[in-house]
Amino acid sequence: QVSFVSLLPSDKVLNIAHRGASGHAPEHTLIAYDLAEKMNADYLEIDLHMTADHQLVAIHDEDVGRTTNGVGFVSDLTLAELKELDAGTWFNQAYPELANPDFIGVTIPTLAEIFELFGLDSDYYIELKDPDDEMIDAFLTVLNKYDLLEADKVIIQSFSQKALTNIHAQYDEIPLIQLLSKSKTKSANYKKIRQYAAGVGLPFQTLDKAFIEKIQGNGLHVHAFTVNETEDMERLIDWGIDGIFTNYPDRLADVLW
Ligand code: G3P
Ligand code: CA
Repeated sequence: QVSFVSLLPSDKVLNIAHRGASGHAPEHTLIAYDLAEKMNADYLEIDLHMTADHQLVAIHDEDVGRTTNGVGFVSDLTLAELKELDAGTWFNQAYPELANPDFIGVTIPTLAEIFELFGLDSDYYIELKDPDDEMIDAFLTVLNKYDLLEADKVIIQSFSQKALTNIHAQYDEIPLIQLLSKSKTKSANYKKIRQYAAGVGLPFQTLDKAFIEKIQGNGLHVHAFTVNETEDMERLIDWGIDGIFTNYPDRLADVLW
């Protein structure tokens, strides 16, 4: 088994900026990613969906309604249509105390735009949302175009075991993280997951010290999502967690300092 030491070091807790520094700026915007870098995050967490014209874009929901001024599913809209949308103003309205005029009118970034901007200076922790084979192929093509696989810059995560095993069969040198929802964490077969994945991502509320150690005993890294309160971060670190997804990479950086 490949150990992925550079991407998954065993001697530090990874600070994974969930949707960028999304506690401070509108999630999945270049501003939120840039802020995460400035806050010393180790990884930019990116959720991907595919547009009607087969472009990969960073957005969490399958529907644009929550985080833009548009309506409809990403998969029904072309990239040109998505680029018309304002992906920042919703944040100013939802969080007036954090509102910033710079957020107004920012657009949904494509994966290529993110790589163009941050390149090999950043590390990426990318989630494929509802991926079919076509999306996986498109994704691997973009990664290769920007030389990110060779440079050891990308961890891939998904709730879809099928997608992860598909990728593992093509590229066993990419570290994969199997995400598990709350109802699956106890019944999951961690030995089987270890056959294709380097680790698991679990809701932090399902974890305790013994459970983390049990999963680690199967040779898997354990990453917890989504942890925003300092005391929860401290407790998980105390229990031996390997990585933490947070909307506040600045808070986690302070705890880890
Ligand atoms: O990817 C880890 C965590 O982000 C999974 O939940 O819904 O925020 O993508 P979600
Ligand atoms: Ca995610």
